[in-house]
Amino acid sequence: MSRPYYIAGNWKMHKTRAEAAELAGALVAQLKDGKHKYLVAPSFTSLETVGAIVRGTNILLGAQDCAAEEQGAHTGEVSVLQLKDLGVQTVILGHSERRHIYKEDDELINKKVKLALKHGLDVILCVGELLEEREAGNAEAVCETQAVKGLEGVSAADLSKVTIAYEPVWAIGTGKTATPEDADAIHAFVRKVIAKLYGSGAAEKIIIQYGGSVKPENAARLMAKENIDGALVGGAALKAETFVPIAKFA
Ligand code: PGA
Repeated sequence: MSRPYYIAGNWKMHKTRAEAAELAGALVAQLKDGKHKYLVAPSFTSLETVGAIVRGTNILLGAQDCAAEEQGAHTGEVSVLQLKDLGVQTVILGHSERRHIYKEDDELINKKVKLALKHGLDVILCVGELLEEREAGNAEAVCETQAVKGLEGVSAADLSKVTIAYEPVWAIGTGKTATPEDADAIHAFVRKVIAKLYGSGAAEKIIIQYGGSVKPENAARLMAKENIDGALVGGAALKAETFVPIAKFA
């Protein structure tokens, strides 16, 4: 079955509002004839600015995280209600930087996933192993645990609003990309995990992005793989001249 390609840019902790507006404007202009599904995820501080620029275009507005609670005494956190108020459509959850730098565990990520879905947001759930986990032969087991626990309690209907991003931690921001074959093998495995949980129809439909040093030079080779349905792009998403060729890979 042919799944649509979905290319997302995670701008991480980069860009002032003016810089974010400039990039968003360039992407709107250069991707308007793009054939795939697109998303940009700026910092919270630029969501309103970027949202006004991408609204009504073929580029979705995403946030990079959200709180696990709806509202309350949570200094420094941002609520899903506040994201919706800004026009955010999708939230990235369980990014490896959240897992490993900020020590988010599967239980917390699962809470966020369910809260975002409950409020009608789409979710990009990131999974991926550390280098030592890969070297110990545990890449599949780690991704399985993160997917199973991240999706605990998510209904089959809500799964249609979930995209998975496989991001081997050792490939993020390092310039090292998983080979298309290695990435595709994990994508196929994750699809099997989804089939076990939700059945083969849902597994065939779910979009699985690859992330980790995706560049204009390797995008087409990755996307050519059967189970790779798009990309979650970090460093190369910060400039139109590198994100657009990925988004329009041929
Ligand atoms: P990278 O980041 O493209 O800079 O490796 C990917 C990500 O963290 O989503």
